[in-house]
Amino acid sequence: MPTPAPIGTFYCLNSGSVLYNDSMKIPKRIAPLVEDGVVDEVLRQLMSGKEATVYVVRCGDSIRCAKVYKDAAKRSFKQAVEYQEGRKGRNSRRQRAMEKGSKYGRKQQEEAWHNAEVDALYTLERAGVRVPEPFGCFDGVLLMELVTTEGGEVAPRLNDVVLTREQALEDHALMMTYVVKMLCAGLVHGDLSEFNVLVDDYGPVIIDLPQAVNAAANNHAKAMLERDVNNMTAYYGLSAPELLGSQYAKEMWALYEEGELHPEAQLTGVFDDDGDSADVDAVLQEIQAAMEEEENRLARIRQADASDD
Ligand SMILES: Nc1ncnc2c1ncn2[C@@H]1O[C@H](COP(=O)(O)OP(=O)(O)O)[C@@H](O)[C@H]1O
Ligand SMILES: [Mg+2]
Repeated sequence: MPTPAPIGTFYCLNSGSVLYNDSMKIPKRIAPLVEDGVVDEVLRQLMSGKEATVYVVRCGDSIRCAKVYKDAAKRSFKQAVEYQEGRKGRNSRRQRAMEKGSKYGRKQQEEAWHNAEVDALYTLERAGVRVPEPFGCFDGVLLMELVTTEGGEVAPRLNDVVLTREQALEDHALMMTYVVKMLCAGLVHGDLSEFNVLVDDYGPVIIDLPQAVNAAANNHAKAMLERDVNNMTAYYGLSAPELLGSQYAKEMWALYEEGELHPEAQLTGVFDDDGDSADVDAVLQEIQAAMEEEENRLARIRQADASDD
């Protein structure tokens, strides 16, 4: 996607505010990236949340976004054990160290956490889900595309966007296709909400993935998928209430479990909680077979009666 074009000596960013192209003092965690020439300038801080601080940086001619993760002690719920399940270190020594919780183990765990988001971004980009283009993770700093509008402003979060009914229906449908593609790529976001979706001129862009869980290896994956999908449906449903009764999460998960979910799957949003109505043909075939069996049985009885006479 295009990065905002420089306008003279300043850039237009974030809700029309004008950012002069003076670099700010370099934050300590970004200093190694500047020394290595990965980042040329830190332009400003964009956001400081519970989990990370995000900066606008210049890398050569491109304006990018640098996400600096907070230390584990300052992070909140995303460290919870249910997110860790199914995440294996890349080698068993590292895995044992992580489990022991030694200083070395904690360092390994931090690295695994940092790499999880950049790995997820690469995976999702390949799977056709709109996410910021990743440029790598260096010393715990994730470099990625700064999502902007055509006008060069930082893209707003979905919770700040007022949607028409038509737009809400269209974006919800698109979001459901992204969640399906994500699941087909083996991932559940785990914290998908209107606060972790940006909206640019082309539609929704999913962000904030360090906690993404492995759909096949995590016992909480189904519940997390339901929460993610229900958050999205509830938000888009504010503008298009007809979405509110839909059951996309259950429909997706049932197909996924049966090994029948594919990236282009057309979902209906309708699902019977019994879980057995989906295969109507099979049920009809069974009824037909039972009727034939009964007819055969009656015919055999008639035949036996006839030969007794
Ligand atoms: N690639 C991006 N482009 C534009 N803004 C971004 C980008 N990534 C993050 N942001 C902004 O920074 C905020 C925090 O980033 P996020 O990845 O959600 O971290 P946190 O874990 O702190 O919520 C987001 O809500 C969004 O406003
Ligand atoms: Mg966030």
